[in-house]
Amino acid sequence: MAVHSQVRWFAAALFGVCLVVVSAAATPVPLPPKAAIASGHPLATQAGLDVIAQGGNAFDAAVAVSAVLAVVEPASSGVGGGGFYLLHVAATGHDVMVDGRETAPMAATRDMYAGRAEGSTAGPLAAGIPGEPAAWAWVASHYGRLPLATSLKSAIRIARDGFELYPRLQNAIRVKQKQLLQSPDAAGVFLLKGAVPPVGARIRQPLLAGTLELLAREGADGFYKGAFAAKLAAGVRKDGGLWTVDDLARYRVIERAPLRLHYGDATLVTASPPSSGGVVIGDALAILAGYDLASLDANTRRHLTIEALRRAYRDRAEYLGDPDFVQIPLELLLSSQYAAGQRTSIRLDRATPSSVLRPVYTGDESPSTTHFSVLDREGNRVGATVSINLFFGATYMVPGTGFMLNDTMDDFAVSAGTPNAFGLVGADANAIAPGKRALSSMTPTFVERPSGLLIIGSPGGSTIISNVLGGILNWLDGKSAAEIVAAPRVHHQYLPDSVMLEPGALNAEERADLERRGHKLHDGRSSWGNTQVVTWDYGSGKVEAASDPRGAGVGLVY
Ligand code: GLY
Repeated sequence: MAVHSQVRWFAAALFGVCLVVVSAAATPVPLPPKAAIASGHPLATQAGLDVIAQGGNAFDAAVAVSAVLAVVEPASSGVGGGGFYLLHVAATGHDVMVDGRETAPMAATRDMYAGRAEGSTAGPLAAGIPGEPAAWAWVASHYGRLPLATSLKSAIRIARDGFELYPRLQNAIRVKQKQLLQSPDAAGVFLLKGAVPPVGARIRQPLLAGTLELLAREGADGFYKGAFAAKLAAGVRKDGGLWTVDDLARYRVIERAPLRLHYGDATLVTASPPSSGGVVIGDALAILAGYDLASLDANTRRHLTIEALRRAYRDRAEYLGDPDFVQIPLELLLSSQYAAGQRTSIRLDRATPSSVLRPVYTGDESPSTTHFSVLDREGNRVGATVSINLFFGATYMVPGTGFMLNDTMDDFAVSAGTPNAFGLVGADANAIAPGKRALSSMTPTFVERPSGLLIIGSPGGSTIISNVLGGILNWLDGKSAAEIVAAPRVHHQYLPDSVMLEPGALNAEERADLERRGHKLHDGRSSWGNTQVVTWDYGSGKVEAASDPRGAGVGLVY
């Protein structure tokens, strides 16, 4: 404890994280000299910039980017999935999170997957009611300047004419080849006579183009009501799912106040529940705010960040779920008093075994998903993270519709005490209930300080949160957009009790130092995340967009 007592403690109340859930106008800032978009695919980034060039704003661009990602990253997001759109309206200073997360069908029950090995990860029983089409229509009509049909044009064209298969998507097809073969429509699009197509093969999706055209023509009602909804519900039920036309008709996006957190001179606007991301980041930052991180060496900072994440992910597992169904003690979890309590068990020289923290069952999410960041020249911002959960979601297409259904039901604590796809078991706050939204880790975030702005987010299941937190800390340390997306990743999520490392993330000395402190290191076989960042330095006016070098995307300024 000698080292521990040497830590310089700060009055967390003065330099802490505090929570305000009500939106408030930000300090006036200049207008950005350029628009910028970073996304997981060059065609999506370009489609967003094209829409801005046609007179659209960041919100129109977000619809265009998201719709093209649905076509060119069909393993990660799509019409059959959902997500969170974090918006900043420059003219009013208003921040809002458009929650387009999927909902459990009304016939869903807490133990519906008991005894069904793959029930929550494959096939139509795994699918929640999609939110993506409703979110596009909502963002376009409430915040955009262009008709939905204009913003969907690029996606329709690319779905019809096709795009070239690239290695990242080919890998996802390879991983899910067996399951894709079970769904004739999906196999027809993504496989070549049952085999994985070569890189460069043209992927054409005429049925998806038709569904997008329906949305362009009739808006969300074309999807959630009438003949198309009847076809969806009938197809899902025929193959063992629970959807009804009523489930589709009752789907609504929800506008939620994002979390607003303060850390030092920075203000974070980030995803609120049913995402766990903002709460975990706030919980961890409140713990870290008690240390003078700048005075500590890199590995001690890393150790403290791991310890903060260990505790924040534990809280996630115990307390978080859909806020319309469970009471979440937000003010407590984000308070400086609670953080001070958490710090009392943290030593600088020793890892705390997760087993000595009050036990809780945990849940986890998938490594798929996608994120994009947008800034326009009016200062409007979008950070959006969207998903169909695991690669290709439920690996199931309702015949004739052209899109994969999600398997987001697996983001619920599927069955108390029964491990989910990731070998973990779940807690009550995130139990399945009719109409409920599963707890998510998707964490689109804006960070603003007097000198500038960061828009950040990533896919990566439960690693999203540590990844976004790492990006925020790197930005606060003065790193560029390119450095932030490239930075090596280190992850801890309470259970399993090990520090997950990307290949090459730490050198031998750093590894030995963490092991001396008692951390168990787990070397990931591959890297994770696909971070998309836009930054704007108010002083120099420099706008940067950077896409993770681990992915196939691109960041462009216009
Ligand atoms: N399905 C990924 C997430 O929501 O965290």
